Order: sequence, then C-alpha cells, then structure tokens
Amino acid sequence: MIYSLLKPLLFKLDAERAHGLAMDSLQAMHCSGLSRQLAGDIPSMPVRIMGLDFPNPLGLAAGLDKHAQYIDALADLGFGFLEIGGVTPRPQPGNPKPRLFRIPEAEAIINRFGFNSVGVDAFVTNRRRARWPGIIGVNLGKNADTPNERAVEDYLASMERIYNVAHFATINVSSPNTKNLRALQSADELDPLLARMHQRREELAQQHGKRLALAIKISVDLNPTELQAVARVAQQRGMDAIIAANTTTTRDGVQGLPHSEESGGMSGAPVREKSTAMIASLSRILDGALPIIGVGGIMSAAHAREKLQAGASLVQLYSGMVFHGPQLIGNILRGLARQR
Ligand SMILES: Cc1cc2nc3c(=O)[nH]c(=O)nc-3n(C[C@H](O)[C@H](O)[C@H](O)COP(=O)(O)O)c2cc1C
Repeated sequence: MIYSLLKPLLFKLDAERAHGLAMDSLQAMHCSGLSRQLAGDIPSMPVRIMGLDFPNPLGLAAGLDKHAQYIDALADLGFGFLEIGGVTPRPQPGNPKPRLFRIPEAEAIINRFGFNSVGVDAFVTNRRRARWPGIIGVNLGKNADTPNERAVEDYLASMERIYNVAHFATINVSSPNTKNLRALQSADELDPLLARMHQRREELAQQHGKRLALAIKISVDLNPTELQAVARVAQQRGMDAIIAANTTTTRDGVQGLPHSEESGGMSGAPVREKSTAMIASLSRILDGALPIIGVGGIMSAAHAREKLQAGASLVQLYSGMVFHGPQLIGNILRGLARQR
C-alpha cells in the first residue's frame, strides 16, 4: 500500500537517488517500529544447509545493502537470511554516476556500480551495529586496481576481517563491472583461488572454534562446459554452496527499450528463466553434492517455487523489491507456505 503510493515518485528520480531515498525511508520506518508491519505474518519454513539453520528459504541478494547499513530494517521484512556487500578490502568509489538504470517495461535493472565500497573495516563497524541475530552472508569482491593474479589476496583479506561477523561468505567472481573479474571463473584461475580460500578458512576455523561457510557466486552467462568445470572445482575445493546466478551482459528481453543500451549487468525478469535453467543443470551436475542458492528474476511466489523445484535449497532476490516493494517478501513466503 505505502509502496504503491511512493513508487511513482521514486521512479521519477534518478535510480541511485531513489534507492537511497527508499532505504532511508525503510530505516525511518524501522526506527519508528513500523517496518515490521510491512512483512505481515511470516510462516516458519526451516531449511538446513551449509551447517546453518535458516528460518525460511528466502534471502536478500547481494548488492542492495553494500555497506551493511540497513541490516535491522531489512530483517524486519521477513527475510530468512541477508547477503550484504559486495565489499572490497580497501575503500573505492566505484564507477562514475549514473550507474544504475531501471527498465520498468521489462521489470529489469542495469547496474555498473563496479563495487563502490566503504572498504571492509568500515563495513565491519557498520555490521557490528546491527542487532538482528539472523543469518548474514557477506559478498566479497576485489578492488578495481588489484590485478587478477593477486585477487586471492583481496578475498583472503576480507574473509579474515569479516570472519567473526558473518555466517557465510560469498566469493563473487561473477560481477561484470570489474574489469576481467569474470575470468576468475575459468577452472585454471578458480582452482587455486578456491583452494587458498578453503585452506585459510580451515585455519581460521581452528583458531576461532567456528566454521564460516563459503559459497561461490557464478554468472548466469556461463556456458554448459564452463558450468560443469566450475561445479567440479567448487566441489573439489571445499565450497559449501553455489549461488546461481549473478547478472547478465546480454540484453535479451529489453532490446529497443529506454536504457537497454547502457553497459553493465542486467537483473530482474529477463534473467529469470535463464537462471532457473542454470539451477536445473547445476542440480543434475551436482546430484546433491552441494546445495544451490537460486537467484535471478524472482517477482512472485510462483517464481521462487520454480527455482526451489529446479533444485535450489534457498532463493534470493533484489530487483523484485524495486518493482514490487518491501511487502513482496511476506507475500512470497505466504504463497510458498500455502502451496507446500
Ligand atoms: C544494483 C545491483 C547491485 C548488485 N551488486 C551485487 C554485488 O555487489 N555482488 C553480487 O554478487 N551481486 C550483486 N548484484 C546481483 C544480485 O545479487 C543478483 O544476483 C541479481 O540482481 C539477480 O537477482 P534479481 O533478478 O532478483 O535482482 C547486484 C544487483 C543489482 C541490481
């Protein structure tokens, strides 16, 4: 209700400004105790994967709360878990503005943020302020000026810093907005990267008496051979889950629409089927060896169910909130619970 009043105003503004305004409004609602009402009754639908107990299978996808500023307000909406970040070890501004575009006719978003980040130290300070006791994943990226040969140092540095303030970390090698990042998905580059992350995680687990789960997030644009190779390396190198998938650089489904020519990664409705097909293929390849977290184009309970039926254990969304508002979370969860 509130969002349907606010949406026409927000959609008149530049997309990044609108995002800031929407998040500040949510935060204000949280502070006055109102945001919990946006969720309604949230059904309990427990899922256990990665050694973690999730109260329900719907999470927030990475990129919406890049600096860990809105955890408690977002948690009020009913999410079963939140993935925050992407965060880079050192602060960096990201790409010049404008860098976020909506294509409402197709329920699509194009972004080329390029990991704008406050840096992992400020991120951890923000994250520590949150009170929500629920499951937090942190999405890890690399700084733009770190060459791929040294990318592992960035991922290691951030993992060490966030180790005690997260339940899982996502190794994000699939953002299209950092030059050559996606090349890290090739088996030759991925194998040593994941091996080092796994080894360090085992050492930290001994030190801290707590095991941080590790997920790898892949691009929706991988071809079947690449997908097969990534799945094999992820299994061999001790990953706890695969997140499928990140944004696309294709423009299928938006051609000719305003903003469709902007460069960057596209999310929302146009990636839904491709992401679901990728989850189904991954599920066949993995055959239960690793859980899958499904993301891409979820706008309704039916879409979430599609991904769960294709083999995902959990699902996440981002773009759906932009087009359907914060009530979407409760609506999807109640829809899922009704048709179990
Ligand atoms: C503005 C924006 C920023 C994003 N930033 C990140 C990020 O930092 N790390 C990441 O792994 N994915 C990022 N994503 C991708 C989302 O987490 C998700 O994989 C993708 O948007 C598909 O889901 P959706 O269709 O529900 O939005 C971002 C997406 C958007 C729209």
